[in-house]
Amino acid sequence: MHIHPSLLSADFGNIESELASIASADAAHLDVMDNHFVPNLTFGVPVVQRMIELSPIPTDIHLMIENVDTEAIKYAELDPHSVTFHFEASKDPVSTCRKLRAMGVRAAIAIKPNTPVSSLSGLLEEIDMLLVMTVEPGFGGQQLIAETMPKVAEARALISSSKFEIALQVDGGVTSENISELAALGADTFVAGSSVFGSSDHAQRILELRKSATTGLNQ
Ligand code: DX5
Ligand code: ZN
Repeated sequence: MHIHPSLLSADFGNIESELASIASADAAHLDVMDNHFVPNLTFGVPVVQRMIELSPIPTDIHLMIENVDTEAIKYAELDPHSVTFHFEASKDPVSTCRKLRAMGVRAAIAIKPNTPVSSLSGLLEEIDMLLVMTVEPGFGGQQLIAETMPKVAEARALISSSKFEIALQVDGGVTSENISELAALGADTFVAGSSVFGSSDHAQRILELRKSATTGLNQ
């Protein structure tokens, strides 16, 4: 069970201490938005570079941007743990995944709520992680869209039917209340933004999320 707090809900005036506060998590999730692929703008390469330097744990970069086949490489050059790009934004996902992996970075593909899981069936050998978005990408603090839940089970079934070891990540509206259900459906990697950074004790919330996820796994 991997917990990846999203820095989107962190205090950007104190980013170093915010990163230090999630040291017990598995990775820091960094949301890059370009105001084109999604209607919101966050940060780009120089800020991501500094956050990677400051992070006490591995970094998981989630690109919600256009022109991702060229842009993803710039983020891979920063040597993060993984780079996730959107299936909807890529013209050549196979080649982008191969370039990322050749650079020693784990390659991941995300799908928006209306994109079917089957879109990725021919790409499993190219990826290390599959991200099922459980909200429309763009903003933190949204409620999980219930209709995306069956997609988590579908993605798990797709992964299990292959011979590849692929992490299954969910992102958007993940809370201590719904994480066990998501784990029971087959997710193993959980992004949580407002749940972690909206709590008064980040380490405690990470622990709670991990415990609830493990409960779901054993159901
Ligand atoms: C949304 C981002 C998420 C966001 C999640 O488009 O990809 O990573 O930070 O935030 P919460 O956990 O608050 O839904
Ligand atoms: Zn994200």
